[in-house]
Amino acid sequence: MKLHVLPARAGLSVTSTALAVTWAALATLAGHGVALAQGAAANVEAGQARAQAVCAACHGANGVSIADNIPNLAGQRVAYLEAQLRAFKAGTRKAASMNALAAQLSPADISDVAAFFGGLAPANVAQKSEPLPQLAKTEVTFPEGYRSTFRMYQTVNRADINQVRYLYANPVALQAAREGRPLPAGSVLLLEQWAAKLGADGKPVVGADGFYQPDRFVAYAVMASGSGWGAGFPEMLRNGDWNYAVFGPDMKRRTAANQADCLGCHKPLDKANYLFSNDALATVAKR
Ligand code: HEC
Ligand code: HEC
Repeated sequence: MKLHVLPARAGLSVTSTALAVTWAALATLAGHGVALAQGAAANVEAGQARAQAVCAACHGANGVSIADNIPNLAGQRVAYLEAQLRAFKAGTRKAASMNALAAQLSPADISDVAAFFGGLAPANVAQKSEPLPQLAKTEVTFPEGYRSTFRMYQTVNRADINQVRYLYANPVALQAAREGRPLPAGSVLLLEQWAAKLGADGKPVVGADGFYQPDRFVAYAVMASGSGWGAGFPEMLRNGDWNYAVFGPDMKRRTAANQADCLGCHKPLDKANYLFSNDALATVAKR
């Protein structure tokens, strides 16, 4: 990933429960298997409570996931689930949101959720769960006119996905960053995603400024903060009072985007206003 701070957007040629739990099996698990492995009995009910509050956002409350790119957890082996959670926590298995979430689980929490999900009946391949309703809604609306009222403060080449991205901040965010204050309610950050122009060799064409040349607009990712906006979110995912949304080229919100993904990946940036670009924002705001 190549990061550069740009002074301004000068010269850019871009336009615009019925849970299928077998309680007898769980009791056996909690009483013997897990207890022997961990030296303490897993608390299946605590595991269930956490699963419903947090994990349900992606894996479903009954371990049947909400999307094809998220694994089902129902009925997987308890020892396997525990091993994966320990690997996410240690960072030896990498997946941004899972690393951030597992970091917040104690060894006992890991045993509890593993015992809960492992004790559920395995999912039918065709089944899918609904996202959590409180995460499906967002207070973020499209910031009309951002091109004239926001400031572009960073350009990012994304070699992994052949994209170039332009990051914008609104005046509220810029002023707080300039004064070194935490970004307050009313702050809005917008990220434009562009597919890079590809050369004959299939690699992105790099301009004189070192950045990929934009070819096709893909989507807008927006994060905005408002008083109390994070209140309904599970603590393990909550990013203060930030809400997130994705908008298509038509500036309509893409309701299929799962806000839990955004929250999970940005969560570890809690000391930096939940921004990956916090330093760049501060640098540009002070100029
Ligand atoms: C933001 C979405 C999200 C949330 C919330 C989430 N997960 Fe995950 N989880 C994923 C994704 C995506 C993967 C696949 C990661 C990969 O690509 O390796 C995964 C993988 C896993 C795996 C490995 C499964 C396997 O088959 O190898 C376990 C175990 C797991 N998650 C447990 C949990 C638990 C427990 C919670 C709640 C504390 C949780 N997850 C919350 C998205 C999420
Ligand atoms: C896998 C991790 C990951 C996920 C998931 C993710 N982001 Fe980000 N986000 C990043 C990174 C890394 C950056 C820095 C720019 C870049 O590299 O593209 C970023 C930057 C941003 C920015 C610019 C401000 C900042 O933090 O620097 C916004 C706005 C944003 N993301 C919104 C979203 C939205 C909306 C979602 C959910 C649809 C989302 N992000 C999901 C990793 C993630």
